[in-house]
Amino acid sequence: MNNRPNITVVFAITADGKITDAHGSPGRFGSTADRAHLERQVALADAVLMGAGTLRSEGLAMPVFAPDLIRQRIDRGQPPQPAQIICSASGAIDPSYGFFRQAVPRWLLTTQRGAAHWADRAGTTQTTHSPIDSNTPTDRPAVAPTIPATFDRILTAPQTPAGDLDWAQVLQDLVRSGVTKLAVSGGGNLVGSLLSIGVIDELWLTVCPLLVGGATAPTSMDGVGLPLQQALWLDLVSAEPRGTEVFLHYRRRSTN
Ligand SMILES: NC(=O)c1ccc[n+]([C@@H]2O[C@H](COP(=O)([O-])OP(=O)(O)OC[C@H]3O[C@@H](n4cnc5c(N)ncnc54)[C@H](OP(=O)(O)O)[C@@H]3O)[C@@H](O)[C@H]2O)c1
Repeated sequence: MNNRPNITVVFAITADGKITDAHGSPGRFGSTADRAHLERQVALADAVLMGAGTLRSEGLAMPVFAPDLIRQRIDRGQPPQPAQIICSASGAIDPSYGFFRQAVPRWLLTTQRGAAHWADRAGTTQTTHSPIDSNTPTDRPAVAPTIPATFDRILTAPQTPAGDLDWAQVLQDLVRSGVTKLAVSGGGNLVGSLLSIGVIDELWLTVCPLLVGGATAPTSMDGVGLPLQQALWLDLVSAEPRGTEVFLHYRRRSTN
């Protein structure tokens, strides 16, 4: 697929390859170093894509906190915070989540049905199958307790005949809007969709020293998966043990 953002997926995984337990607990088992690593990846991106399941579990997005990372963004000509894009076919997002009080640009990627949930909420810009204005800097103060629970933008994605989001069109619209670097912070269902269409360019895995097991505990890429013959092969860029964790960086193999 041409004309799409460069896509970097970032996960902390257990030593048995899970991103949380079978109950969908908030998947925050990485160390402080892992959180800082995630923040650095977020800081490099024009936008961050997150599945609604992850938001339902965690209630929050990962903004850029570190002043030096924010300064570097501004020096690169990026807004202080990347847009946080929640992917939800249903649009059923609880407005009480702390996410709606975070000082970040909030976008919703959804279907027509999902957009209807948010249609009459003041402050929400409806964007139907048209380029997204990626240059939506947040000029809100760092603490903004009175922000209403709204999305700054709603992207109503076209759907394929099978009912899936038309990712080719979505990604093309993101590029047209200036999102050339997209970070994906999970979860497994969303990233499984991206894997199925072969659009993962880079993968960061932080292997953490714990085991949870469980056939139904989410992994980094769920959904139907790929047949082994069509696997997306990766090159190992780096493998760095740090404390009790190992930071793995993979890049899509160019001969795929
Ligand atoms: N360890 C880590 O690094 C890490 C990272 C992220 C998440 N997690 C954990 O993983 C769990 C959540 O993962 P998950 O796989 O269950 O959920 P998920 O992928 O975050 O979210 C699934 C939901 O996102 C929407 N969605 C995903 N793909 C879609 C697509 N192709 N088209 C339309 N909508 C789509 C749907 O929302 P609707 O239902 O609204 O339609 C779907 O139900 C949580 O426990 C979280 O804490 C861990």
